Amino acid sequence: MSAAPRKILVTSALPYANGSLHMGHLVEYIQTDVWVRFQKLCGHTCTYVCASDAHGTPIMIKARELGVSPEELTTRFSEEFVRDFDAFGVDFDNYHTTHSPENEALTVEMFEALRTAGDIYTKTIEQAYDEQEGMFLPDRFVRGTCPFCKTPDQYGDACENCSKTYTPADLIDPVSVISGTAPSTRESEHYFFKLSEYGDRLRAWMQAATLDKNAVAKLEEWFDAGLRDWDISRDAPYFGFRIPGTDDKYFYVWLDAPVGYPASFRNLCDRRDDLDFDEYWRPGNDTEVYHFIGKDIMYFHMLFWPAVLEGSGFRTPSSVFAHGFLTVNGLKMSKSRGTFIKARTYLDNLDPAYLRYYYAAKLGPSIEDIDLNLDDFVARVNSDLIGKLVNIASRCAGFINKRFDSQLAGSLPDEALFDEFADAADDIAGHFESREYSKAMRRIMALADKANRYIDDRKPWVMIKDESGLEDVQSVCTQGLNMFRSLMIYLTPVIPTVADGARAFLGEGEWRWNDAATPLLSATINKFKPLLTRVEAKQVQRMVEQSKDTHDAGADQQVDNAISINDGAESGMRVK
Ligand code: 2FM
Ligand code: ZN
Repeated sequence: MSAAPRKILVTSALPYANGSLHMGHLVEYIQTDVWVRFQKLCGHTCTYVCASDAHGTPIMIKARELGVSPEELTTRFSEEFVRDFDAFGVDFDNYHTTHSPENEALTVEMFEALRTAGDIYTKTIEQAYDEQEGMFLPDRFVRGTCPFCKTPDQYGDACENCSKTYTPADLIDPVSVISGTAPSTRESEHYFFKLSEYGDRLRAWMQAATLDKNAVAKLEEWFDAGLRDWDISRDAPYFGFRIPGTDDKYFYVWLDAPVGYPASFRNLCDRRDDLDFDEYWRPGNDTEVYHFIGKDIMYFHMLFWPAVLEGSGFRTPSSVFAHGFLTVNGLKMSKSRGTFIKARTYLDNLDPAYLRYYYAAKLGPSIEDIDLNLDDFVARVNSDLIGKLVNIASRCAGFINKRFDSQLAGSLPDEALFDEFADAADDIAGHFESREYSKAMRRIMALADKANRYIDDRKPWVMIKDESGLEDVQSVCTQGLNMFRSLMIYLTPVIPTVADGARAFLGEGEWRWNDAATPLLSATINKFKPLLTRVEAKQVQRMVEQSKDTHDAGADQQVDNAISINDGAESGMRVK
């Protein structure tokens, strides 16, 4: 790839800092990290920022339950996240928090700009109120019997049984999830953003952003249904930023959460002379900004966020890349089945490289869900990474180390074959660029098969028995190791730690994508050490056992509730 260097800023969705990371979260962080590492390997300036999503009612309530301040709770989880991300090789250039001065300043700046433009107005609305707790209740914090199908214990915004939407006041026998008492209804003045006036600008953005076709279809659906103005305020008590000029109104968490992207970037710019905030966040610059997200938060990232940016004098994202959900063994993750696997539980049992490779082998650019099938995981990792890839090196390295004083030959016996590996670079790069990782992995593994066939045909272990064929053994193994090297360069974004081991074994410095075009010849390599070991099914079984919550029959329901309450989605916004 010889295109001019690009300046790219990349983000992953900001995790709520009130629960541990799990296998589902990792789909997105691994997907993004692979893309960022690929861009960097190609020589582009690519900056990857993220932060903890620290505000909102669920975080405030959880902190209260635990008897700590929300700041303490979110700091604790942020520290855990940083450790987990680091262990999985998710390599942010900056990890910040939305509860930061940079975020408050930018949120207020955007709000004031929108207000000056006439895009903010106030309106009095009615909302469920918990008299005992002295607080307004988000729809998801009220449960009761569905007014339509009479199913008990439904959320205040929609019924899980009949899918009808309504307001908490419509529920039969509603109760507050916090105090268990029946809520009253109270009036309060709220701030609204005139999203309804952004239809044309959002359509234009959608065309320019070349979104995935499923995302476009979803947006068309939302445009057709009509864009409703957005309530961006919440009443005290609330953990967030206070709206200037008010005593008891706060910005809704979903307003300041995406502002966490530029805010984290600004925090980084303050430490880095080579990065200029305005170059990435003001219109008219030659930089690119991409957000990786899950499909459940498309409404926020493809409507609210570009509209807020557009209306407040900031640049809009170059594109937003949405992925699907994760199932484990074909089903929703479940505590009773032991498939609700936390990042830390995985790390206690397995090498992160396995998961990075497995997800890459499954991922495409669409919002289709992906499945982590645990038997397939073991089979695929062992067959592809160990049986095909590492095997190339382990079959050739010993001869070079022991019989040729670790010296590679000065030329390749089959240059045409090496060229086939080099020529695949553009195709594989194209797949990485368009997030067609599964296609990239297939192409790489097909080349690995080819390399193994080459070694099988030459049989260096037979050739070595004949003194007159010694030189040929050096050539064949040099060819084998060079094919391995090209593939490892291509796999660097996916399994960086294994690539580091391979690079150290070959005695090379940092790789660039283009290095795969030039063979490594006449070099002295290092002693080969196994780069990766086989996964044993019992390691996976142990991880599942450790993830099982068999004592608590309601555990799966709690997971569902936590996820639903966490997501902050408003009626009609879910992508189902
Ligand atoms: O859905 C979530 O988990 C949110 N915390 C994602 C926020 S992404 C961005 F907008 F901050
Ligand atoms: Zn119903």
